[in-house]
Amino acid sequence: MILNNKPKKIIGNNIITLELTDSTNLQLKNLCEKETLSAGFVLVAKQQTNGKGTDGNYWVSELGNIYASILFDYDDKVNTLFSLYPAVALAKILRRDFNINAHVKWPNDVLVEHKKIAGILCEGVAGKYMIMGIGINVLQTNFSGDIENIATSIAAESNSNIDTNAVLEAFLREYNNLYFGKCDIRQEWLNNTQMIGKTINSIHDGEKKSVVVTGMSPEGFLEVKNKLGQTEIWMARRGLDINAKY
Ligand code: BTN
Repeated sequence: MILNNKPKKIIGNNIITLELTDSTNLQLKNLCEKETLSAGFVLVAKQQTNGKGTDGNYWVSELGNIYASILFDYDDKVNTLFSLYPAVALAKILRRDFNINAHVKWPNDVLVEHKKIAGILCEGVAGKYMIMGIGINVLQTNFSGDIENIATSIAAESNSNIDTNAVLEAFLREYNNLYFGKCDIRQEWLNNTQMIGKTINSIHDGEKKSVVVTGMSPEGFLEVKNKLGQTEIWMARRGLDINAKY
């Protein structure tokens, strides 16, 4: 279970690191069923054997990257904006601290050019807790198979030596700043994306669509203009595949 008090919750107040697990999201769920954990708890693994991605995809989880799941109190008012914080936090520190031109793709992928450097899988159990899982490619430089030309890492994009722990620390610090600070996360997302004004090609429940991105709604939904000039609001990423080349 999760403690339901409301002290100042700090993301990363308690971090446990596992050498190897199947999936940190799965294991954090298991831990929540057995133990009393506070919001802000982070479960990190150095490697995963069954990393979970969005839409039932597999998340390649080799040694050298970051696989982390962060615990939050359940909140039935939560909306898409909630899942934007970690993506924006990471994009900001990659640009500021690592000189990598990272940007966010709706809702919460972090890209460098069209290649994915981090992905987020937010899951929850209604009435109980929410888990923000993030995979950050840090040291991996060989990407093969399905992800050969669509993934990158901090090491692949940077000339300096990268310390994985320093990346996690900087990321959690920025996440805290954004989440507990007074930031307008919608505006922060807009400041950290390259999507606005671009034509994007997508497959939406099997249907090909080409639209122009016009903005983000107050709830964090994507606003686009279709070929007929009508505004559409895209609410869910499930069943939606947006081509990262835009
Ligand atoms: C995506 O497909 O973009 C989301 C990938 C999320 C991967 C992370 S790694 C840590 C956490 N544990 C998992 O099994 N998945 C998430």
